[in-house]
Parts: sequence; C-alpha cells; structure tokens
Amino acid sequence: MSNASNSEHITSTGHKLSAGGHLDVHYMALKDEYDATLRAAGIRSGWSVLDAGAGNGVFLPLMAELLGAEGHIEACDLAQENIEAIEGLIASQRVACPISAQIGDILTLPYETGKFDAVWSANVIQYLNDAELTQAIAEFCRVVKPGGLVAVKEVDISVWQYQPQDPKLMWRLLDALSDDVQMSGAMRGTRVSAWFRAAGLENVSAITTLAERRQPLKPVEREYIRNNLEFLSGLARTRDLPEADHRQWKAIGEEPERLICDPDFCYREMWVLTLGIVSKC
Ligand SMILES: C[S@@+](CC[C@H](N)C(=O)[O-])C[C@H]1O[C@@H](n2cnc3c(N)ncnc32)[C@H](O)[C@@H]1O
Repeated sequence: MSNASNSEHITSTGHKLSAGGHLDVHYMALKDEYDATLRAAGIRSGWSVLDAGAGNGVFLPLMAELLGAEGHIEACDLAQENIEAIEGLIASQRVACPISAQIGDILTLPYETGKFDAVWSANVIQYLNDAELTQAIAEFCRVVKPGGLVAVKEVDISVWQYQPQDPKLMWRLLDALSDDVQMSGAMRGTRVSAWFRAAGLENVSAITTLAERRQPLKPVEREYIRNNLEFLSGLARTRDLPEADHRQWKAIGEEPERLICDPDFCYREMWVLTLGIVSKC
C-alpha cells in the first residue's frame, strides 16, 4: 500500500509524476511507441535541438543517435535533480552527439532567438494552464530559426483505461479533477494544434498513438501501471466522489495487483505529437 506522497513521484519543484525513477519506468514501459514518436518528429542529422523539459533525459540517447556526431542538443528542465541526472548521462559518454544541460523554464527559455533547428518537448505542457501554454509555444517559436520545427508530445488522458475496471469509474474521477491544472492539461493533447496555429506555426499536423498493454505484462509495464493506479487512488481520496467510487479507488490503491493480474486486463493510453514549422515571413 502506498501513501499519497510517495505515489506522486514529485520533483523538488513540485511537479507530480516527474521524478527520475518514475520517468525511467514510464519510458521503458512504452519504449517502442515512444521511440517511434520521436522518430516521427522528423529531426534530421546534424541539427541543433532543444529538449524543453527534458526530465532526467530518457529521450536523449535516441535523439543523439538521430542527430549524429555533427548534431547538438541543449536540454533544459526546472528540476535540479533531473538536470543532474542528465549530467550523469553526459558523463557516461553513452550519447552519440554533444549535449549540454541547464536549469530553465519553458515559459522564459534561457536561449537566444533563432538558436535551434528544432524544439522537442515531451510530457511537459500538461503542467501549464491555457495562458501559460500560449507563452510556452511562443517561446518555442522564438528560439527556433525560421523554417525550423516545433514538436510537442502530450498525453490525452480522456482515453486512459484500466479495464476490466468499469471505464465510468475513471470518467467520474477525471470529471472531478477538472479544476486540477495538470489533469486538465493532460486532457488537452488532442487540441494542441489550435495553440500551434494561433502562434502562427505553419504546416501544423498531428500524429496520434494509442498504446495498449494486455497479458502477459512485462515487469516494467506492471510497475508503470501500478504507479499510475496508486497515483489515481491518491487523487481520488482528495475529491468529492460517490461513496462506492471511494471504496473502489481505495481497494485499487491498496492492492493494484488484483486488477493488473486480471486475465482480461487491458491498459490504454493515448498521446499526440503535434508538429509545426516556424514561419519564414
Ligand atoms: C513528466 S516529466 C517529462 C520529462 C521528459 N520530457 C520525459 O518525457 O520523460 C515533466 C518534466 O517537465 C519539467 N517541467 C515542468 N514544468 C516546467 C517548466 N515550466 N519549464 C521547464 N521544465 C518544466 C519537470 O521538472 C519534469 O522534469
């Protein structure tokens, strides 16, 4: 059984589900689809790329491989411990191109205008409200040179499912969480294209991925799903829900394996990669 604080995987800057250990599990549980999403962004060999909100750097090894020795990556994040993890990765020399890391806020990026060929930002804009998202996209457009690429990957948890658990249990919780900035932001992935167009980005497109996991689950998939269920159970405790829902979320939090081990267990998660080109005008 977990308590609320250790199920939140929180950083020193207060962002839930952002601590390095959870980010590793998250990435490894969805690695095939995540790597395909990064490849689909269209990052080219030799480019200079900003990973905005890089966390502990799970996307950096593949990104460096795509860029090759002539490429360059700058990684920024708000949380010092995540930047330290990236510095450890750089020191290990397991990456195929030069990488620099620094603390930085995507709302006021510490980089000069037009510095990069592309910005990649994954699983970060969920922490922003709508006005902050407008500001972040404007910053991405500022630091990318004209004709360069902005690529934002974000989840859309309106599709989040842990069946055979009744899907309506999740829908009622998500409804009860509609005033939570992160959970609302995590339901916005499908609509990010509207922010791209409003920012003047061109050739705006979106690629949606549905990731599904059924039995037999790999150990890392079980761990990721267990983390999510414990997190949701903790959130449910803070909300006004029917008594029967509270009982179910409590039982799920206390014994997530009971649901995860169901022979008909099916986990579903969906995300959207939104792409746009910075105008040359
Ligand atoms: C869920 S993690 C994702 C990390 C990584 N991009 C990944 O996909 O694994 C979210 C990260 O965004 C960072 N973050 C949140 N708000 C930020 C902001 N305004 N500026 C920079 N980083 C931010 C957090 O510190 C955290 O490392």
